[in-house]
Amino acid sequence: MKIQICQAEPKDYKRVRELRLSALKDSPNSFGAKYELLKERPDNYWQQVLKASSWCLVSIDGVDIGLLAVDQADKDRNSDCWLSGWWITPTHRGQGISKLMAQWVYELCQKNDWQKIGLGVWPDNKAAIAVYLKLGFELAETLIPSRSIPGLMYQPMYKSIGGDSK
Ligand SMILES: CC(C)(COP(=O)(O)OP(=O)(O)OC[C@H]1O[C@@H](n2cnc3c(N)ncnc32)[C@H](O)[C@@H]1OP(=O)(O)O)[C@@H](O)C(=O)NCCC(=O)NCCS
Repeated sequence: MKIQICQAEPKDYKRVRELRLSALKDSPNSFGAKYELLKERPDNYWQQVLKASSWCLVSIDGVDIGLLAVDQADKDRNSDCWLSGWWITPTHRGQGISKLMAQWVYELCQKNDWQKIGLGVWPDNKAAIAVYLKLGFELAETLIPSRSIPGLMYQPMYKSIGGDSK
């Protein structure tokens, strides 16, 4: 079994599209984006998506199974970078792949001199919150209004990494 974790290059936009649409179809209540809307988007939308964020792509024996986006955080995010769209195909959950992806994020942080990692999760997504706590993220005290779905609040979680990011 060969696990590959890499940053998506511009030519990989179709791989990102497939994984992202699979994620939104599989977990419609986990993300702010919606499958019905994104499935209609043309190639140049996905090419822009790849330019805008650093996408972590995970494949096993040549089959794509995981995805995660990392962005430099906007000022109001209270962190240096922001994670979104974290998804692993159901057949490969519970095997520690999220830890490998987190390690990939820490390395990206080191390259960019980012110390504080943030992410947002719906408060009722208890499974994802449990994973993030296990990865060393801490719950922020207050929920924040979602930008993608007005009316909903998300739970921010943060992890500060220093010299030792594990
Ligand atoms: C979130 C997601 C990417 C995590 O991947 P995963 O494969 O399930 O996570 P892992 O199995 O690698 O779990 C990482 C750690 O959390 C622990 N963990 C996982 N689920 C847990 C739970 N429900 N309660 C307690 N601990 C849990 C694991 O035991 C593991 O720790 P360990 O290695 O010390 O045993 C995956 O579950 C997913 O794609 N979910 C659907 C989409 C989603 O909700 N994304 C998040 C949007 S914010």
